[in-house]
This record gives sequence, structure tokens and C-alpha cells, in this order.
Amino acid sequence: MTMTNAVMGAAGEHMHHQISVFNAQSPQAESIVHLFYVDLAISAVIFLTVTALVIAAVIRFRARPGDAEPYQDPGNPRLETLWTVIPALILLGLLILTARTMLAVNPPVGDRKANVVVMAHQWWWEYRYPSGVITANELHIPTGTNWLLSIQSADVIHDFWVPSLGAKMDAIPGHPNVLWITAQTPGTYQGTCAEYCGAEHAMMGIRVIVQSPEEFVRWEQGQLHLPVAPAGEEIERGARLFADKTCLNCHRINGTKAVAGVGPDLTHLADRDTIGSDLLANNLTNLTRWIADPQAIKPACNMPALRLTGVEAHDIAVYLESLK
Ligand code: CUA
Repeated sequence: MTMTNAVMGAAGEHMHHQISVFNAQSPQAESIVHLFYVDLAISAVIFLTVTALVIAAVIRFRARPGDAEPYQDPGNPRLETLWTVIPALILLGLLILTARTMLAVNPPVGDRKANVVVMAHQWWWEYRYPSGVITANELHIPTGTNWLLSIQSADVIHDFWVPSLGAKMDAIPGHPNVLWITAQTPGTYQGTCAEYCGAEHAMMGIRVIVQSPEEFVRWEQGQLHLPVAPAGEEIERGARLFADKTCLNCHRINGTKAVAGVGPDLTHLADRDTIGSDLLANNLTNLTRWIADPQAIKPACNMPALRLTGVEAHDIAVYLESLK
């Protein structure tokens, strides 16, 4: 699929980790996959035992020519009690294992403050750090830290899920949930919204960029700086169009008149690998296409096509790609 390739190619310097629950890259994801293997082993033993007994009974007790009517058993209270109690005990065991894993994956938070607020929107993700940094779709976290995410939603119920890093967590309007991630290995991890949330649920990708603590601090400090002022004819024209064509009714670019928080913050858009929520590689061609007609790329998304000319869309894209 060319779209996926385009995004993969955009990862640049970051190592790309395979998206799989079996590729656990945090203690939380390891606990979950371990529980899966234990459950699978218990289920396999039960499945093989029951299947073997059924096959044995079919062969041993099959009707033979000349057989009389077999004995009609009216019931056996002892056996029936036994085969009710045994499954109940197995289920109780699985419940205990599950509860232990849930506690290990998401221990009580106490009065600990979240390291980042994850705000889900139809159909993209916003990340707000206590330092004041606000970014979209690409979550940066450092390695080796018990990172606490506050999972929230601005509209409908979504679900934040990065299989290699941790549990699924619902994003419910008005009810913040918490999620712990202790990332071990730097690199890029992908995930997706895991709760059906409308037309573009399938295009609500998550990208997590795990960095060493030093790199993370450098990234965060960089995000706090204002982007360079527009310089050059195309960029200046693009900046003017951004203000005139109502882009600023929805988007924020720090240091400019654009202060709205409806759509993604674009202050440092050029630093991101992707656009459209992990949908397209972030480059001038894709961004121009997106600005000219977002509905053609992500139908029903909340950004309208503003009937721009090709040159106008290009100039706005050039301006946005200058925002580092
Ligand atoms: Cu957001 Cu599904």
C-alpha cells in the first residue's frame, strides 16, 4: 500500500517498531502479552482434553448393528456438580490473573500529576504537556520514565491504543482516564483509535516517538520556542493567506494571531513526520494536496475544502512547512 510506504519513509532517523501486541516494548505491554500466553496455554489444555474425550467417546460408544436401546441415564448429581465446579474454579483463576495484570499495568495514581494530557478529537489526537507545549498526532515520550498519560476526549468516545507500549484506554468526554507507559527502547511506535468513533475512525492513527531523556528535553525546549518569522515571498504570501482564508478560526500558531484550538496546533508543524493523524508523510506535496481538499483524502473530516486556487494552497503549505 503506497500510503503506508509514504508514512514509513517519513520516519527518518527513528527506528520503526513493528506494530504488534507480541512485540512488547514496555513492562506494561510485557505483562499483557504474558497474560495472553498463560490464558492461551490454559485454553489449549482444555480444548485438547475435551476434543480427545469427545473423539474417544464417539469411537468407544458408537452404535453397532444389533445393539439394544442403550441405558437412559436420568442424571448424576455428583458428576454434574463436578463439571460445574471445575470450570468455575478455572474462571476464578483467570479472573485473579487478569486482575493482577490490570493492577500491574495500571497501578493507582495517587496524587501524581500526568506527564501529558492526551485529548482525543474526531479524528486526531492532541497532546498537552505541563510545560505548555501543545502538539498533535505525534506523542513524544522519554525512555526509562514511568510516564503518566491522562486520556481525555473533546467530543465522542475514542480509545488510545499503542499495542507495543501498553494497554488500551478509553477516552471518554468528561471522565479522564489514566494510562502508564514505561518505554524502554527509543524509536517510533504506531497505534490507532480502538473504539469506533465515526466516519474516520480508521484514519485516526497514533505515532509515539520514544526518545532518550536528553533528546526529549531538547525536543520539548525546541517546541517552546516561537517558530521563525515568515521570510521570503512565498512564505509571506502563505502567512497572509493563512490569516485571510479563515485557517486561523480553527488552528493555533504561537506568536501569530492564530490562537484557536479546534484543529491541530500548527506551531511546529514542519517538525512532524506525518500529517492527517499518521496518514500521509509530511512533505510539501502532501500538505498542498491536503490544504487544497482535505475531504478528498479524509472524507467527512472536520476541515473543509476552502476553494483555494492551486497557487494559494501551495503558498500556505510552503508557509506551514517553514514552521520549525
Ligand atoms: Cu477515534 Cu475511533
